[in-house]
Amino acid sequence: MCGIVGYIGPSDAADPIMEGLARLEYRGYDSAGICLNIDEKLVLFKKEGKLVNLGSILNEVKPKSSFGIGHTRWATHGQVNDTNAHPHMNEEFSIVHNGIIENASELKAGLDYNFLSETDTEVFLALVTQAYKREADVEKAIFSAFHAVEGNSAFVVMHVKTRKLYAIKHSAPLVCGVNETAGEFFVSSDPYALIGYTSKLYFPEDGILCVGNPGANLEFKFFDSEMNPSSKYKTQIETRSKDVADKGNFEHFMLKEIFEQPQLISKIEKRLQDEDFKLPFSQIATNAHGVFNIIGCGTALHAGMLMRNFFETYNQKRAITDFASEFRYKTPLLQKGDVGLFITQSGETADTLACQQHCKENGLKTYSIVNVEGSTIYRSCDKNILLEAGAEIGVASTKAFTQMVVMGYLLSQSFAGKFGETETKNELQNASKAISDILSREEEIKKIASEIYNYKGFIFTGRGNQFPIALEGALKLKEIAYVHAEGYASGELKHGPIALFDEKMVNIAIINSDLYKKTLSNAQEVKARKGVMVIIGENHLEEMKEISDFYFDVNYFGVEKLKPIVSNVVLQLLSYHIAKLKGTDIDKPRNLAKSVTVE
Ligand code: AGP
Ligand code: GLU
Repeated sequence: MCGIVGYIGPSDAADPIMEGLARLEYRGYDSAGICLNIDEKLVLFKKEGKLVNLGSILNEVKPKSSFGIGHTRWATHGQVNDTNAHPHMNEEFSIVHNGIIENASELKAGLDYNFLSETDTEVFLALVTQAYKREADVEKAIFSAFHAVEGNSAFVVMHVKTRKLYAIKHSAPLVCGVNETAGEFFVSSDPYALIGYTSKLYFPEDGILCVGNPGANLEFKFFDSEMNPSSKYKTQIETRSKDVADKGNFEHFMLKEIFEQPQLISKIEKRLQDEDFKLPFSQIATNAHGVFNIIGCGTALHAGMLMRNFFETYNQKRAITDFASEFRYKTPLLQKGDVGLFITQSGETADTLACQQHCKENGLKTYSIVNVEGSTIYRSCDKNILLEAGAEIGVASTKAFTQMVVMGYLLSQSFAGKFGETETKNELQNASKAISDILSREEEIKKIASEIYNYKGFIFTGRGNQFPIALEGALKLKEIAYVHAEGYASGELKHGPIALFDEKMVNIAIINSDLYKKTLSNAQEVKARKGVMVIIGENHLEEMKEISDFYFDVNYFGVEKLKPIVSNVVLQLLSYHIAKLKGTDIDKPRNLAKSVTVE
């Protein structure tokens, strides 16, 4: 959600700002804008819709400036239009904002200011401007505004007179960076935007004001609210080159990411004996004895549900799972020795972060399974298990889900003292082979997609470890094809959803050898009500073929515990091809954000 990029340096500011915003496009946004300091005046360019709309204006005007800020907005307060797009500015200041000011309307009512937009963000601008009139000190003015606002936000402010960039945040992602050779300062909401531009990154803590001043030596300066220099930030030397993810020969990032899955599993299998890789698993396994509170959102929670099954079935460890957005407002029963396990691709999901804070405040050890090194969750937890997925650009998560489940499986194997054993190695090798086999049969899945894509609705079903896959399959289809889809435990159909079935409704049933007869009966019940039956089965059993309208037989290559990540790849490809036939924006589906940094 929302992207921020700011720049001061000797080059054309619009270039790195637009490049950075383009890299953050995958996170989801609805309008974009940039403010540049041109001849000591703030000049604004803003446009609703995709970044190319803003890009074409800049291509025409070709503004020259070496100081600016840019933003991609995901609207929370006020309509999606040019006026509400960020930055918001007046003669002195220009600002961009990621997040929500929860007390914006109360504050606005007490302010004598000529508001131009409907956003909560402009309230911050008004507060800074008024405080600056009183204090004549930019730092103090920003602190004063920052202390008045409630909610989770990151703000970046450019001040035309001092020619400095200021940034401050509360529970929202923010990173500052410098390029020592080129003499450049950057700020962003995501280090991904700055790859190849900076040699050193700074991650400030909440409430610390970061000031980038090109006149001084090439460092950001950090201040606490008393204006004392602060060391409450982490640094990271950045060596990655500008060669960031591209689609290669694939039509979409999502498809590329689906196809990366076998190699990524093999990569993990090769690291099983690597001490650095093993360490967080063994540390968590040695220290975690109480109940596991496994928390995440969407796809990450589906991976968490499989982890719960692994821990309970194979390790006899109690675990609960919950949506982060629910857990944070409950009074969860947390006891001494329990742990919090947070599953998140981005490491920036606001609800998940709030749960981590809650568990930490209640004295629990907090662990994450996360894809983005250096993300907020990564920096906040006691230990982290890092996915080996690389950047995931498609908004619909595919390879990160698979990796989350693999890491959960490895943690379970670690509890059982089997981390580096042949059983684990074979399971990973077989899972990689089984997924490659499915990918080589993409045409068969595409054919099924072409037969079913126009039906009215889709009910995904599975039992045991295939139940979270039914939920995941339905979520993926909804996200990218914009069709109605639901996931159910197969045995639940008769308790209500079966009423939906007629000849226009599809049941995508995953049927495994575990509880085979029971799951098959559930499919027969649907068939008896004329539902369109797609079975993702195994072992080529005639009974399944007979009741299917479309049958796909999975060769699991002897995979046992990781079967769900294999069958899930069939569903990933099925959703992808249905979405393609529907002509949707697969990598950036409407209304969605890759990283949900607001509540
Ligand atoms: C996945 O396809 C979704 N876009 C979404 O459900 C996602 O998994 C969820 O928002 C959690 O994101 P996170 O893993 O970055 O925390
Ligand atoms: N709340 C602000 C708005 O609606 C910022 C949204 C964002 O994070 O993009 O404009």
